[in-house]
Amino acid sequence: MTDMQPSVTVEQVRSSFPALQRLQGNIPVAYFDGPGGTQVPLHVSDAVTEYLLTHNSNRHWNYPTSLETDKVVTYAREAVAEMLGAGTSEIAFGPNMTTLTFHLSRALGREYGPGDEIVVTELDHHANIAPWQALEKERGITLKWVRFDTDSGLLDWNDLAEKLTSNTKLLAISAASNALGTIIETGRAIEMAHAVGAEVFVDAVHLLPHQLVDVRALDCEFLAGSVYKFYGPHVGFLYTRQDRLESLDVAKLIPSPDNAPDRFETGTLNYEGIAGTGAIVEYFASLGTGSTRRECLISAFDTFHGWGTELIGRLWAGLAAQDRVTLYGPAPGTPRTPTLSFTVEGMLSGDVTTALAKEGLYLTNGNFYARTIAERYGQLEHGFIRAGCACYTTMDEIERLIEAVASL
Ligand SMILES: Cc1ncc(COP(=O)(O)O)c(C=O)c1O
Repeated sequence: MTDMQPSVTVEQVRSSFPALQRLQGNIPVAYFDGPGGTQVPLHVSDAVTEYLLTHNSNRHWNYPTSLETDKVVTYAREAVAEMLGAGTSEIAFGPNMTTLTFHLSRALGREYGPGDEIVVTELDHHANIAPWQALEKERGITLKWVRFDTDSGLLDWNDLAEKLTSNTKLLAISAASNALGTIIETGRAIEMAHAVGAEVFVDAVHLLPHQLVDVRALDCEFLAGSVYKFYGPHVGFLYTRQDRLESLDVAKLIPSPDNAPDRFETGTLNYEGIAGTGAIVEYFASLGTGSTRRECLISAFDTFHGWGTELIGRLWAGLAAQDRVTLYGPAPGTPRTPTLSFTVEGMLSGDVTTALAKEGLYLTNGNFYARTIAERYGQLEHGFIRAGCACYTTMDEIERLIEAVASL
């Protein structure tokens, strides 16, 4: 966090999101479903519409709309690169994180064989498990799981140290858990993996709406994100360090471009979504202060982080005070995102979210594909209820949620 003063208020932010005007009966809808996908500001929908109505084309041809589409993609690559502290040619776009990760695992799998090991963690969304698990079957590699502590919701660092060996080729790790909100000290894990000669893939999908990352400082080889989790369209992206992007044996069409990052991208991209991707980064930057876009982004994310910390502190306290509620994951004060999971004694998670939805409170339930976490807590069958705070969440909405859970 920097000590810059927030340059924007939550009311200003909210005024950019038309979805927040939605009423249910006469109750305003409160969206706590951000970890599953956030609402979008007008800047994003305007950019998508403008692209489709005025520039729509395929790329790499010589007429204006095609050249404009090339520019839209380049602009978005530059914007995402700046958000991650990466180079423009290190950002590949795709439909979503899961598809990009399967594509990467296939390419990396061509370098692996029996005896090689991949280390994953129990805290991960299965989009960062299944692509590596596939290599057990396809390439005969061994998958090793790092445990987490169910009391604290934190990674077991001793177990990580044990699981990393000279046979480890890759550590696949989340930057933050989408079920518990745990923020993992990714830099420390990367250092440990590099010390045994392994590469690191970071799933930053759940962290990126809440905290900016710097891939150069992290020094990871790969990092994936999803734009629809941070107020943009349904687009995924993968950062790959330039030298690795050039050396990967990716599945691709012979006539498609072989330069980085295009060589990683299969088929025609979602150009309208990519137009919206450039727009969301620009929108974030407009909320911050600084002399470069990156500085503005840092300042905007610091502001969001401050708001999120306050909101989750109150939500945690308000729910913890209720006898029927069990909370999971790290308590406030521990590095965490403003996302929490809970259960209500005597009620199925789906019945809780149905009842809350009647009050205009939109929450998700289930295991959120963080299946192993649900398994460790014995909640695979009943599932969690998940409340996620976004940059447009207000303290009034938090109070409404606390009261609604209390009166279930
Ligand atoms: C932490 C995390 N990783 C990966 C994913 C998968 O992202 P996508 O839907 O872009 O494939 C999600 C989606 O919920 C997630 O929360």
